[in-house]
Amino acid sequence: VRIYFDYNATTPLCSAAREAMTRALDEFGNPSSIHAEGRRARQLVELARDEVARLVGGLAEEIVFTSGGTESDQLALRGAGRIAISPLEHPAVRGAAPGARLLSVGSDGAIDPAAVDFEGVELVAVQLANHELGNVNPVAELAARKKSARFFTDAVQAAGKVRIDAPSLGVDLLSISAHKIGGPKGVGALWIKRGVTIPAARGGHQERERRPGTENVIGIVGFGAAAREAQKLADVERVRGLRDRLAAGAVAIGARVNGRPEVGNTVNLAWDGVPGELLVAALDLAGVSASTGAACTSGSVEPSPVLLAIGQPRAQAACAVRFSLGAGNTVEEVDRVLAMLPEMLERIRRA
Ligand SMILES: Cc1ncc(COP(=O)(O)O)c(C=O)c1O
Repeated sequence: VRIYFDYNATTPLCSAAREAMTRALDEFGNPSSIHAEGRRARQLVELARDEVARLVGGLAEEIVFTSGGTESDQLALRGAGRIAISPLEHPAVRGAAPGARLLSVGSDGAIDPAAVDFEGVELVAVQLANHELGNVNPVAELAARKKSARFFTDAVQAAGKVRIDAPSLGVDLLSISAHKIGGPKGVGALWIKRGVTIPAARGGHQERERRPGTENVIGIVGFGAAAREAQKLADVERVRGLRDRLAAGAVAIGARVNGRPEVGNTVNLAWDGVPGELLVAALDLAGVSASTGAACTSGSVEPSPVLLAIGQPRAQAACAVRFSLGAGNTVEEVDRVLAMLPEMLERIRRA
């Protein structure tokens, strides 16, 4: 049996999402149709919207369903002029803001709200939790300094791990993705604060003109069920205990911890002289799934842009391995991985 320590890449479907989607599979109506089939599909979409809204502390009317975190991020940035972003943003944000001003971060990835200046900026994008390090950014403090800018936070890696209340964060836009919280892939949401407008999209009138196209009804149903579960934060403290046990055991055998693992499921580790890619491959052969960084960038031989952005030399950044845990993990799994690591590290160093 494999050990899955890559929940930040994606999560297994939770049973609530599986059951809700299975029940809805034959609801084929188009939610925009006014007949009975359409109305039933509409009702499913709207029930899910309520749950997703509750997960982020917002109103149903503030939720726009999308095809995932990436589309939500890009919708949030659409039409913005001068943009300032954290250099640690996910490629979904960084790629969509090529000329953006980069905020400065410390060597632990932390952003100091007292040091930022948003003068002349139209949109600020700072993620709530970092996908590779597990840092939680001081979004409320940063948003308090936004002046006339609008503030967007990518909360894809925060949802289900920390309590999110978009209004009290003081942000205007916030994105989440279903497959990071036990829902299906290919569906996400953008919370847009009431009164904030984004440029209209050409097409049908769905999602209040903000995202045209027939809704992914089954995906949205699964998202709603997963969001309902995620509101409970039921496994967060237990998973934090597992992560702490893994981190402590790793440090005892020479690991460095990158960043500030404030989100309870993530720890980014490095052993000097052990390329992360080789360790991830050795772990995989031994039945353990971990990652060198964002799944989207791990196909490349480049070291993690997040680690380069916090000032690590390439050789050092190339040693990083991210372990991200979740509800399905156990103490036995952590101990098995800790038991296999010394021999594995030794073998890679010798080679
Ligand atoms: C912080 C962050 N933002 C956005 C995304 C993209 O989400 P999706 O895979 O749903 O497009 C991810 C997923 O890797 C992520 O970790």
